[in-house]
Amino acid sequence: FNVPVAVNEPVKGYAPGSKERAELLATYKTMFHSNIDVPMHINGKEIRTGNTKNITPPHDHQHVVGQYHTADKSHINEAIETALAARQAWSSVSWMERASIFLKAAELLAGPYRAKMNAATMIAQSKNVHQAEIDAACEMIDFFRFNVQYMTDIFKDQPASAPGIWNRVEYRPLEGFVYAISPFNFTSIAANLPASAALMGNVVVWKPSDHQAYSAQVIVDLFKEAGLPDGVINVVYGDPVMITDTCLSSPDFSGLHFTGSTYVFKELWKQIGTNIHTYKTYPRIVGETGGKDFIWAHNSANPLQVATAITRGAFEYQGQKCSAASRAYIPASIWADVRTHLEKQTSELKMGSPEDPSNFINAVIHEGSFDKIAKYIDAAKADNDADVIIGGNYDKSKGYFIEPTVILAKSPTFSTMTTELFGPVMTIYVYEDEAWEASLKLVDESTEYALTGAIFSTDRYIVEKASKALENAAGNFYINDKPTGAVVGQQPFGGARASGTNDKAGSAQNLLRWTSVRLIKETF
Ligand code: SER
Repeated sequence: FNVPVAVNEPVKGYAPGSKERAELLATYKTMFHSNIDVPMHINGKEIRTGNTKNITPPHDHQHVVGQYHTADKSHINEAIETALAARQAWSSVSWMERASIFLKAAELLAGPYRAKMNAATMIAQSKNVHQAEIDAACEMIDFFRFNVQYMTDIFKDQPASAPGIWNRVEYRPLEGFVYAISPFNFTSIAANLPASAALMGNVVVWKPSDHQAYSAQVIVDLFKEAGLPDGVINVVYGDPVMITDTCLSSPDFSGLHFTGSTYVFKELWKQIGTNIHTYKTYPRIVGETGGKDFIWAHNSANPLQVATAITRGAFEYQGQKCSAASRAYIPASIWADVRTHLEKQTSELKMGSPEDPSNFINAVIHEGSFDKIAKYIDAAKADNDADVIIGGNYDKSKGYFIEPTVILAKSPTFSTMTTELFGPVMTIYVYEDEAWEASLKLVDESTEYALTGAIFSTDRYIVEKASKALENAAGNFYINDKPTGAVVGQQPFGGARASGTNDKAGSAQNLLRWTSVRLIKETF
């Protein structure tokens, strides 16, 4: 069970004038003009249906980078049949062979695939160099490396035996196929949803987000070069309802690995419930869903530290991380200082295309998202219960650009305090210092979510009380740090309540969901 010790991939700095920066920007330029044609992948074959949709960069929506091909029902049935046909061979291959494939994928990504994976993520998902690097390179590499280690940790867990009796367990894959639905916002999560199930010996039908098709293609190339056999992970695009209906009505559907919205996840869960009598096995349901992640500060907190956590936690990647902070509760006595720092910090954030690495803010993912966020900003401007104190401007003429925006809410239940917008909008509620305990109750009870949250205080008693009061309010809880940027191998990630099943991405707990354990007792 001794596998290479997993270590976090160091984050490259892409400093001005560096070779790595020049290489990445050159790759970006080439890929931006490549007119890529993204097929589906079924049984290792490239499927081109001719029913295509355009890939357009969110920061330059009139520029067509390429197309991806979409499925009809027969392709989905073929993907399921193919996966099931590959299952026999894949599930009986030694775990060491499976581990080797993903360890090789990690090293290929650390080397020759790094610039391509980052550039595809910058182009089609509008991430700046740093945000692409920590996701598409480092987090993905870390998922592959650490999951191999977690897998062997699981295997080591064996029952006790006795003289004349040997008890042992086999961690077998699920009997059927896993359906993976992945989001646009993290290339690493998109790769990990099918890969973690496949590592444990499962076969997968994977539907990436349409907006991530470009980097999904690089992931497919990476897996192929790393030696993943045909049919283990089958990639399809197209009408999500049709794809889901087809997958969930197969008797061999045995697991859902999902990251996306709370609404969609609940609908899928309902549909699985409706079909439950048709399945051969109870399906595993694993999901990471919405959030309305918080920052709470006590008057003992350092105002600069709080402001920095808001700026980075709310505005990195345009607030489109599942972990992004979008509501903050600040005591009146430190508010003026926090505000001053926040105004200064946000005024220094440049906005524009990721092609220029000095742009901190890029575009939001698509027009629907842009329009929704703009509508909420306008409503805040018009409402007496709120003031837009920073930003608030937007422009979609070239790309879907929205300024980092801070709304000061007079009521803790103001719409943007409680609604998930998935954009660069932070809403702040200022509470009277002495009402700090009541404000913790607001944090806990104002939304249905419990993904991430951060508290700030230099008083240990307050830290302890806040931590206790918010024990169910966040699956990832940060003390004196921003609520984003979980590192695989250090902070396993996931939330509860309406934010998911809390099966921590990047953990043995997650991998266990993709196994069906056989206990064997042998008597001598
Ligand atoms: N891992 C990411 C973060 O913590 C969210 O998926 O920001």
